Amino acid sequence: MLVRILVAAAALVGAVSAQLTVTNPTSDSWWVAQSANTLAWTCNTSPYNNFTVLLANSNPSILVQPIAIIAIQESYDCSKTITQQQSAQPAATGYTVLLANPLNSTDVYATSETFEIKALGSSYPATSSASSPSGTSSSSSPSSTGSSGGALAQYIPAGAGMVLALAAGLVVA
Ligand SMILES: *[C@@H]1O[C@H](CO)[C@@H](O)[C@H](O)[C@H]1NC(C)=O
Ligand SMILES: *[C@@H]1O[C@H](CO)[C@@H](O)[C@H](O)[C@H]1NC(C)=O
Repeated sequence: MLVRILVAAAALVGAVSAQLTVTNPTSDSWWVAQSANTLAWTCNTSPYNNFTVLLANSNPSILVQPIAIIAIQESYDCSKTITQQQSAQPAATGYTVLLANPLNSTDVYATSETFEIKALGSSYPATSSASSPSGTSSSSSPSSTGSSGGALAQYIPAGAGMVLALAAGLVVA
């Protein structure tokens, strides 16, 4: 029960603060090579109207430097299908998507979790946010709770403090 309250508090904090986060791909929501893949972000909390989309890899033999796959992407679109031509990259692990300032691509607004591009013909992840174009808030919470346990664990002490402070305030009042 307490955990449920803490998760709700953490979700509330996340929804209120203005931030841009990549919600797909993630460490357990891969892309498939030479196929149409979904890029999704937190458009409702984005402080930026637009950004450049780049693809990077930690292995220099795959990508020496990040490559732009969309020059200007409007934030209000919430998600975008990345076409075969845009993501014509070899199947590998270690990829990240970067959302950056269109005027200065080293000014990175948001970095995705490290994700894999699987070989052509691989199945898509079972729960893809591609299937819920309007449910941005509902699609973002399973991926954040499911994949970034470390980040959630970092939230809990702060959330616990807030909830306890609120509870204490209610008792005193
Ligand atoms: C991108 O957003 C900036 C800041 O909000 C705005 O000044 C600029 O005109 C936008 N660029 C495009 C191409 O929409
Ligand atoms: C581009 O952004 C980076 C990182 O924010 C910054 O250090 C650099 O000075 C910027 N370059 C220009 C030309 O504004």
